[in-house]
Amino acid sequence: MSDRPQVICLMMTSPDGSLHPSRWTRSPDGVRSDWSSLYEKVHTLHSATAWMVGRVTMAEITKAGPHPPSGTPDAKRPHYFARPGASSFAIALDPSGKLHFSKDELYGDHVIVLLGSDVSDRHLAELAGDGVSYLVSDDKEIDVGAMLELLRKELGITRVLLEGGANVNGSLMAAGLVDELSLIVAPALEARKGSDRIIEFGEEGLADKVELSLISCDPLGHGAVHLRYSVKTPS
Ligand SMILES: NC(=O)c1ccc[n+]([C@@H]2O[C@H](COP(=O)([O-])OP(=O)(O)OC[C@H]3O[C@@H](n4cnc5c(N)ncnc54)[C@H](OP(=O)(O)O)[C@@H]3O)[C@@H](O)[C@H]2O)c1
Repeated sequence: MSDRPQVICLMMTSPDGSLHPSRWTRSPDGVRSDWSSLYEKVHTLHSATAWMVGRVTMAEITKAGPHPPSGTPDAKRPHYFARPGASSFAIALDPSGKLHFSKDELYGDHVIVLLGSDVSDRHLAELAGDGVSYLVSDDKEIDVGAMLELLRKELGITRVLLEGGANVNGSLMAAGLVDELSLIVAPALEARKGSDRIIEFGEEGLADKVELSLISCDPLGHGAVHLRYSVKTPS
């Protein structure tokens, strides 16, 4: 695992791997709000100090639009930690700097954005102006592993919950950056042709890239099951 935080991919899904609970069948065992409450409970039980999502998922959470500062921006690179003493964090992967924020926290967790090198100084100044922390990669592509190491070193983050969507889950799994898959499986199905699944990695998929091994399987109530797998890179 090197010196990076432990990464646990935590998702709520159906037995057919659907990413979108709003499209699921009903169940006599429970309703979506029951399963979401169980998800939140498991989230807390994992005792992580940070959660991390992809740009598309974060765009559904932060609804802010662009509001770049006027004048010549004074942007710090490669990183800016607005609240190094914060006790919990919300991390977004946003290689091109498409996300905007209106405050420095989400659900009480301090926001950190991981960015690619092409992001403009004006965008960095906007983030800093909103009290948001950021890390800029050396490259256009984000080196997530190196950034996680830095977050552990600088902010003491030792466990991160990776919470979607499919794209970010798949790309981090393929990169060998996920240690555990933790699933809340609800008694429901989507079953649409070509539906989005909770983990996707392009045309090639993850065959030969990861190996799962069962850690535990526990009923949670309301027909849901908590499945935990360790995730390893094949040797
Ligand atoms: N069932 C659940 O519990 C659950 C949980 C979370 C989300 N969701 C749903 O999932 C959907 C979004 O999923 P999604 O797969 O479309 O998008 P996503 O994973 O949220 O975000 C994908 C984007 O994140 C950036 N990204 C991903 N991997 C990266 C990497 N390794 N390095 C740098 N940047 C990376 C890229 O941004 P750029 O495009 O800017 O390059 C990429 O397009 C939403 O509808 C959301 O509601 C469901």
